[in-house]
Amino acid sequence: MTVLDEAAEPGALARRFPPAFAFGAATAAYQVEGSVNADGRGPSIWDTFSHTQGRTLNGDTGDVACDHYRRWASDLDLIAGLGLRAYRFSIAWPRIQPTGSGPANLAGLDFYDRLVDGLLARGVEPWATLYHWDLPQAVEDQGGWTTRDTIARFGDYAAIVARRLGDRLPRLITINEPRTHALIGHGTGRHAPGRTGWATALRVAHHLHLAHNAAARAVRAEAPAIRVGISHDVADLVPAGDGRDDAAAMARHDAAMRDWFVGPTFGRGYPSDLLAWYDAHGFVDGIDPAEARLAEPIDFLGVNYYRRERIAAAPVTDGWGIGSRVVDHVGEHAGNGWEISPGGLRAVLGRLHADYAPAELAITENGATFDEPAVIDGMIDDAARRSYLARHLAAAADAIEDGVPLVGYFAWSLLDNFEWALGYGTRFGLVHVDYETQAREPKASAHWYRSLLEAHR
Ligand code: FCB
Repeated sequence: MTVLDEAAEPGALARRFPPAFAFGAATAAYQVEGSVNADGRGPSIWDTFSHTQGRTLNGDTGDVACDHYRRWASDLDLIAGLGLRAYRFSIAWPRIQPTGSGPANLAGLDFYDRLVDGLLARGVEPWATLYHWDLPQAVEDQGGWTTRDTIARFGDYAAIVARRLGDRLPRLITINEPRTHALIGHGTGRHAPGRTGWATALRVAHHLHLAHNAAARAVRAEAPAIRVGISHDVADLVPAGDGRDDAAAMARHDAAMRDWFVGPTFGRGYPSDLLAWYDAHGFVDGIDPAEARLAEPIDFLGVNYYRRERIAAAPVTDGWGIGSRVVDHVGEHAGNGWEISPGGLRAVLGRLHADYAPAELAITENGATFDEPAVIDGMIDDAARRSYLARHLAAAADAIEDGVPLVGYFAWSLLDNFEWALGYGTRFGLVHVDYETQAREPKASAHWYRSLLEAHR
């Protein structure tokens, strides 16, 4: 069991954050909602993918998930009871436009309307994400993110949401982790829609960048007061060994995983060395790099931070890859092999601030999965998660003291939930979910977080 360090003393830690800091927790629609056929929702690529044999662990699907679509009111009470100041959730495009185009499905909009009002009534700031990977299947059937048509459709969807909720939403995140969605969903195929190939993934990445721009424009046209952002996932990279090959692989990996995605958000275009490398390997297909220099300004940068990655050189095989690989299950690591590095969070935030100077940053996801301890006297003593949380919050406070304009921190996740291809076996929640009964039980980490927030009031 991990020993708590001094950073976990709530009073001292709380004093290191500014008064208006948005302490929260996050979820995503497909991972928690269930009720996939309710109120006119159309199928998404995750419904199709999870129902395809062999795609998810044990064939798990989001059909029921945490049943949040029906239990939303008591879940909001739970959020308020934990003292959270903010809650990050995502809106399911297939509930708003069941086939990804055409008029809004009012019953779908009503759900998020109730959710937003319910949060505000409980004094919790709603942070909404427009797209956390659940593309309407009908859009996928017409090419999905591989075609440019999807960009304008996403803009239309964003406008519908902003028109209905824009008067009450303080913040909106256009897209969650374009990198993961492009490379895992459309490169390795381990996520929906399961497309493969590096060239495909790069085309999708390009279209996601343009879709983010389209959505940001549409939202501002409807609701100029909303603060618009995007959430990129950025890991803390170190070379696996001392050799030059690993150092070169790490530089390429950094450009491929960070700057290829974050650069366009700030109108910096694609990193030129990597563009040349991709070109030489035949990976640049159907994208105009000049468009990566066109950026709609953002009000804040969301950062999803989980881990340190040790990067080693690897061969490029079969038209795949950038000549690097991640060595995991080293050092102190979480249950899924991700290396734990609180200092890496400070470093990642500091570098983003130095290189891109966003007006504001928010940690829109941070968390870990561990083998769950048993319930003892009604308490799930997840000391390892509590320590992870405390040390990463201390690192966030370090970053603030370094001068990073950090405005929020969202633990991933509020609830144990459907962890994509890993199904329900991998638990990230501050709150335990019994999938048989749907009972929610705050873990020790949640109680600790509440004590931090109480000390911060
Ligand atoms: C992030 C995803 C989130 C969750 C966590 C563990 O990449 O955005 O939905 O799966 O990882």
